[in-house]
Amino acid sequence: MTIALIGADGQLGSELLRTLPREDVAPLYYPDFDITRPELVRAALTAIGPRVVINTAAFHRVDECETKPHTAFLVNALAVRDLAALCREVNAVLVHFSTDYVFDGRKTTPYVEEDEPNPLNIYAASKLAGERFVQASGADYFLVRTCGLFGPAGCREKGRNFVETMLALADRGVSIRVVNDQTVGPTSAEELAVKVTALLRTDRYGLYHLTNRGSCTWFEFAREIFLALGREAQLVPVTSEEFGAPARRPHYSVLANDRAREAGLSEFSSWPEALRSYLTAKGLRKPAPAA
Ligand SMILES: NC(=O)c1ccc[n+]([C@@H]2O[C@H](COP(=O)([O-])OP(=O)(O)OC[C@H]3O[C@@H](n4cnc5c(N)ncnc54)[C@H](OP(=O)(O)O)[C@@H]3O)[C@@H](O)[C@H]2O)c1
Repeated sequence: MTIALIGADGQLGSELLRTLPREDVAPLYYPDFDITRPELVRAALTAIGPRVVINTAAFHRVDECETKPHTAFLVNALAVRDLAALCREVNAVLVHFSTDYVFDGRKTTPYVEEDEPNPLNIYAASKLAGERFVQASGADYFLVRTCGLFGPAGCREKGRNFVETMLALADRGVSIRVVNDQTVGPTSAEELAVKVTALLRTDRYGLYHLTNRGSCTWFEFAREIFLALGREAQLVPVTSEEFGAPARRPHYSVLANDRAREAGLSEFSSWPEALRSYLTAKGLRKPAPAA
């Protein structure tokens, strides 16, 4: 089975590259392979002849999307529309990623796949448009919503993932304002790659929520990072309003993984466990002694 992996050096892409059978994967790298250039995409994918196309590419600097809606919709929606149409044409399964931010956060219990999205910002609206294009394409697809990714490669688009951002701020010795009224489900890119690999062994196509177990606010996430490292940091909890980010974000966007469980996927670990594994893999924390 040949798998074309778009964004193979990204945070999630590099974990998929490590996890999928190496001989099956054709890694594709930006800018040589650019999903916004349909003729180039067609030529490259026709040459590869994949059975599966995995798209991890996105324009996901959430605040920047507010002032660059054209780029957001180009990368996150129109390019995805063209990619899905091509997958349909060449009979390839499309694996595409979306976000917890498609929801408006009015719920207080985890969102299921059947819940109606209602994006609050441009990034989320463009990702939802991408979802709709995938679903309308007629291609077989796995559409995976996830949240707050942290992986060893760090987030390419954003420069850093949340954990790296917190550690860099602590290194500067400054007090760190962290939003305490947005509840999320932080997710290990490594574990997500393992689950996607497992999903690919099935033909249970459709929409899935895939996140580590549990939830926390960004402030609680930050506190756990320093607790796990036994390190001091000056964390200051603030409201979204006090923080003043340009893009609105949902107050609650935890995703329920029930559909994944029904498809036979094993449970994710809890996010604090996944965080500790990540910090250990990064060499920032000593491995726990064997029991
Ligand atoms: N990160 C999160 O917290 C988070 C949360 C929820 C959902 N998601 C979704 O999960 C997916 C993966 O996120 P990630 O954190 O792994 O992202 P990432 O680290 O930014 O990786 C994106 C990859 O796509 C490549 N890329 C960017 N623009 C491209 C284009 N026009 N054509 C082809 N490739 C392009 C990047 O290449 P360069 O590095 O060379 O630019 C990079 O390899 C995205 O769909 C994102 O929306 C992420």
